[in-house]
Amino acid sequence: MSSETGPHEDVPDDHNLPEQGHPQGREPGEGSVSLPEQDPFANPGLPAHQHRVQDVDEAAAKRSERTVAMLFTLSMLATVGFIASFVAFPADKIVYIWPAGHISALNFSLGMTLGIALLGIGAGAVHWARTLMTDTELIQERHSISAEPEVRAQVIEEFKQGATESQFGRRRLVRNTLYGAMALLPLSGVVLLRDLGPLPEDKLRKTAWKKGKVLVNENTGLKLKPEDITVGSLAFAKPEGLDHGEHGWANEIAKAALMLVRIEPADIKDKQSLDWSHEGILAYSKICTHIGCAVSLYEQQTHHVLCPCHQSTFDLADGARVLFGPAGHPLPQLKISVNKDGFLEAQGDFAEPVGPAFWERG
Ligand code: FES
Repeated sequence: MSSETGPHEDVPDDHNLPEQGHPQGREPGEGSVSLPEQDPFANPGLPAHQHRVQDVDEAAAKRSERTVAMLFTLSMLATVGFIASFVAFPADKIVYIWPAGHISALNFSLGMTLGIALLGIGAGAVHWARTLMTDTELIQERHSISAEPEVRAQVIEEFKQGATESQFGRRRLVRNTLYGAMALLPLSGVVLLRDLGPLPEDKLRKTAWKKGKVLVNENTGLKLKPEDITVGSLAFAKPEGLDHGEHGWANEIAKAALMLVRIEPADIKDKQSLDWSHEGILAYSKICTHIGCAVSLYEQQTHHVLCPCHQSTFDLADGARVLFGPAGHPLPQLKISVNKDGFLEAQGDFAEPVGPAFWERG
């Protein structure tokens, strides 16, 4: 790393560059650009080479040398500090360091010292390369990558000769069966897609709700009557008979999860919602139409319900219309009424698939 001999002694002068190394449009040693008027795409060449201050001033080169040495020394000290930290700090010692707050003294010191050690080596190497290593400009000549016309003609000739010798054109049976084999081969990949699992069929479109299914409280399992749902309250329901432990229960309850609210009929703005309600009791899917979180934060004054995942907000008094957030569709509503025993029951399944709106478009 010594610079005793003075880097400027080895500095190449662009006057010494071989003449063929200079791009077109520029005379050797000349900084100006010469553009032929008739050729707008002429190579503008390189600007005149500027010597670095270290190349012409030995004192500046010495300063750069000292800077590089200082950075490498800093790295050495940091490495020593790393080892000392490892020995000195117990693993459970916590210190307060602004702005990080209370953190492990060992982790902090190991991270800082290792970071400084690496930074010192990196910064020293970069400074060395930029200020002291050779500054010779090299020009790489490039040639057209297109083949010569004779080469192309030869390739075409060889291709034709190969086709003739293989009898590809003459043996039609071979040729046509090869076409067939190559056309069918990709089908094996398509067939493998079938191995991704059973087809969903209509499982994503249908839920456990159907005409006559009684609504039961999701927590108590008790059948719900209209008087159980008071104005301002939010209740969750599931279809009667859908019990824990049954095969596929988790999937079914995920699709059929229901949210019940009671709103004064005069406050219900959407006519279909009013028609599908019972005395102001509205039953909506609890599954957000964005990506399927459970919608559960109800604001009784405004009748808005909020999805906690990405803050989609639905207006339950207006057909569960989306007021805010990424959900693309209203929450599906379940048409309900009261059976002869006075319990709330469904009048069928949801009119559209529940959950993420993708399935609605499928
Ligand atoms: S899942 Fe409800 S807003 Fe994203």
